[in-house]
Amino acid sequence: MARIPSVFIAISACALLTACGGGAEEEAAAPAGDAPAEIAERQDNFEEIGDSFKAIREQLETDSPDMALIQTSAADINERLKRLPNLFPEGTSMEAGYDTEALATIWEDPQGFDEAIQNAIAASADLMAAAETGDPEAVGGQVGNLGLNGCKACHDKYRVDDD
Ligand code: HEC
Repeated sequence: MARIPSVFIAISACALLTACGGGAEEEAAAPAGDAPAEIAERQDNFEEIGDSFKAIREQLETDSPDMALIQTSAADINERLKRLPNLFPEGTSMEAGYDTEALATIWEDPQGFDEAIQNAIAASADLMAAAETGDPEAVGGQVGNLGLNGCKACHDKYRVDDD
C-alpha cells in the first residue's frame, strides 16, 4: 500500500480550486461531469412551491376562496420547505459554474441560510393555521408574511437577482 505524499494531494486539490490561482473574480467554468441531481431537484421543488403559493393567492382573489384547496397548498409549501436543508450540497452555486440561481452566500453564511429556511417553515405553519380558521383575511395576512419574511427575505440574500 503506497502512501501518496501529502504534497501531491495539496497540489492537485489546489488545481481544482479556482481561488488558488487568484482568479476568484472570474466566473468558473462548469465543473466536468454531470451536475449534482440536487440542483434540478431543488429547482423543481421551488417551482412546486411557487405554484402552490400562486394557487393560494388566486383563491384569495375570488369571492368565496376554496379553503380546502388553500389548506392543501399551504401544507404542500410547508412540506417542501422542510426539504430545503438536503437540497444544497456544498459547491453547487452559480459561482461554481452551475446553471443555478443559488448564490455562494448560501455556503459562506450557512447559519443565516438555515435561519432563512426555518423562518419560512414557521411562516408556512402560521399560514396553515390561518387556513384552518377559514377566515380569508387571516389567510391573506399570513400570505403576506410568508411572501415577505419567507420567500423574499431568502431570495434577496441567497438567490441571484435577475430582474
Ligand atoms: C431559504 C431560502 C429560500 C426560501 C425560504 C425560498 N426560496 Fe425560492 N429560491 C431560493 C433559491 C436559492 C433559488 C434558486 C435555486 C436554484 O436555481 O438552484 C430559488 C428559486 C425559486 C424559484 C425558481 C425555481 C426555478 O428554478 O424554476 C421559485 C419559483 C421560487 N424560488 C419561489 C419561492 C417561493 C414562492 C417561496 C416562498 C413560499 C420561496 N421561493 C422561498 C431560495 C429560497
